[in-house]
Amino acid sequence: MVKCPRGISQVKLVLRLLGAIWVSSLVIIAGFALVQIYAERDQILTDLERRAWLTGEVLKEAVEPAIQRGPPARVERIIKKFGSPRRGIAIYDQFAGLVVATPDVAPRLPPSLPMISKALTTGEAQKGIETLAGQKTYLYAVPLQGEGPPLGALVIFLDASHIEINPSDLLQQNTVRLLILASVVSLLTLLVVKWSITHPMTRMAEWARQVRAGKATPPPVSGRFFGSLASEFSELAKSLDDAKAAAEREALLRLEGEALWTEERLKQFVRSQLNDTPLFVVSNREPLIHQWRGNKIEASAPASGLVTAIEPIMRACGGLWIAQGSGDADQETVNAHDKVGVPPEQPAYTLRRVWLTKEEEDGYYYGFANEGIWPLCHIAHTRPVFRASDWAAYQRVNEKFAEALLEEMRDTERPYVLIQDYHFALLPRLIKETRPDARIALFWHIPWPNPEAFGICPWQQEILLGMLGADLIGFHIQFHCNNFLETVERAIEARVDRERFGVVRGRHTTYVKPLPISVAPEGDPGDLGISREELLRELGGSVALLGVGVDRIDYTKGILERFRAIERFFERYPEYRQRLVFVELAAPSRSHIKRYQDLDEEADRVVEEINWKLQTKRWKPIVYLRGQHSHKEIRPYYRHADFCMVTSIHDGMNLVAKEYVSAVEEDRGVLILSRFTGAARELVDALQVNPYHIDEMAEAMRLAVEMPPDERALRMRRMKQIVRERNIYRWAGLLLEELTRVSVDRAGVAEV
Ligand code: F6P
Repeated sequence: MVKCPRGISQVKLVLRLLGAIWVSSLVIIAGFALVQIYAERDQILTDLERRAWLTGEVLKEAVEPAIQRGPPARVERIIKKFGSPRRGIAIYDQFAGLVVATPDVAPRLPPSLPMISKALTTGEAQKGIETLAGQKTYLYAVPLQGEGPPLGALVIFLDASHIEINPSDLLQQNTVRLLILASVVSLLTLLVVKWSITHPMTRMAEWARQVRAGKATPPPVSGRFFGSLASEFSELAKSLDDAKAAAEREALLRLEGEALWTEERLKQFVRSQLNDTPLFVVSNREPLIHQWRGNKIEASAPASGLVTAIEPIMRACGGLWIAQGSGDADQETVNAHDKVGVPPEQPAYTLRRVWLTKEEEDGYYYGFANEGIWPLCHIAHTRPVFRASDWAAYQRVNEKFAEALLEEMRDTERPYVLIQDYHFALLPRLIKETRPDARIALFWHIPWPNPEAFGICPWQQEILLGMLGADLIGFHIQFHCNNFLETVERAIEARVDRERFGVVRGRHTTYVKPLPISVAPEGDPGDLGISREELLRELGGSVALLGVGVDRIDYTKGILERFRAIERFFERYPEYRQRLVFVELAAPSRSHIKRYQDLDEEADRVVEEINWKLQTKRWKPIVYLRGQHSHKEIRPYYRHADFCMVTSIHDGMNLVAKEYVSAVEEDRGVLILSRFTGAARELVDALQVNPYHIDEMAEAMRLAVEMPPDERALRMRRMKQIVRERNIYRWAGLLLEELTRVSVDRAGVAEV
């Protein structure tokens, strides 16, 4: 149904289109008709010419001797023989006077014809169309030659009345054509307009109304034409939504009278304190990986606490992030400078990828970083491996990243550099040596062990000196800062300033601070795509309780210990069999390292063993989802789980704990948390466990599912408040604030 006023404009559009079609059809048909007329005339004329010439030439041969020798009756006989009603013939004398003519043409002949005089005077044949007694006639006059001047002229008259094409016939013929053509094209146009424009536009308008009303529904059209418009509009709607949500959050915070760190506040802070100096972030893991899936390239975020934490900061502040390009389609997605905007649909910052050879990756990443430093810093009873070749690769790769970073910040004065993690212990010094004006922070995302433990590293001095090139070194907790300062005191020549928590070497001071990392505050959960009831139904008909674990498959995460605790729980409390399912989302990690391969296999085996022992036809105690899972896939589990288990043997922070607290439904959820994680210092309302103590963990599970609702809600509310307040924007704000306080001069002297 056509509605006003939008309906009117649609009718107008259709009328305009039809008008244009009809006018253009008329012009085209008229043009073709004209061309047709001229072509037909030319053809008739050529035909008349050919016939007249042929007759003229043949007759001339016969008439010339007859005219010279007489008698005139002979000439008359000849022309009568060749004449016909549509072909007249006449003979003129040398003074252009008519001698004889065939009976059909004789009565129509005028007293004189200029064409004949011309043929006689020029001695050349003349031709053309004349109107004789009202009838179009084609004339061909050829002089008859004797000894001297022409004896006279032979004239052929052909009926040319058909050269006049009747305009009314033509009009009739073409009007029909015009009507057919314009009607067919109009009909097709109306159909196309309806299905390709009016229909999708009406649906888009309806969708836009819904979006405006706050209903997040996917756009109703796809494809190139309206699809790109729809996706642009979706982005716009999303940005408006985000802005609205941010404004609402800010308003709420103002009401609460709290000075919380938000994305907006961080942006303002960076703008005012850093004077729009771009941020440079360096990490091994990139925030966005491009991979081939069949013949399509897909972008995904890796399972990484570091990425979870740094991504929102970069989205808020912009800048450049340098990381290793590790996806098999990464090379195909960068520009000539190895850069790609992130997120690709609406870039907020730039990712510069650094390419490593297989040998470099083996030695630096798998070897020194993950077989050396990782087990060295985690007290998880896996012996570190130190190979000289790995150390050489580690040095080379740090130099490679230093080159890339120096190149990128060439034109930036006093740049802010945030180096991430144990992959780049040497980078701060490499940068400081060339760019003493750079403000450098190194954040160590994993624990720092005591001096005895760290002292087994053959290159501990080089590592410490490399790190001390930074102006600020951050750890998650004070305990790790203390361990670091003690290690420095024992391993190298430096003065440790315990009052200000710094290491002084020459004129340079490196400040060492605890900065517990966190996650971005949870926004509106929106539509998760699955309700709790549906999720439980999928896990088995009688299931009413859900536990969840989310980990990289890493021996520091206590995954096997957790599975054993689950087994013990069901053995001790059989009444929970078929009522509770534990879902483990486990992402394979560092799979070229033997220790990780063994763990991966063992996890499969242990899950199989426990499930085999306890499962029934329609229920399994552990649902083991091994693979890379996106945030979107993980969110429903976080949101609907009755408890989450984080049972790390040792962990710098563990952001899964904070992600769960942030995402779980308001009054639901208990966190079971290893006391050996950094997160345990802040989340004191979690049920804290020793992951080596299987019975204790099984008991914590029982406590979690049997906890009185009031207590559960109170504990979770307090933890939610902590995670909301000590969020990632606060972490970044505090880190940058510390860094802005460092005054650096060209000699690299850092002072706060
Ligand atoms: O937890 C330490 C850490 O390096 C994180 O910073 C990072 O998110 C995680 O390990 C993942 O490790 P990888 O990048 O080796 O997969």
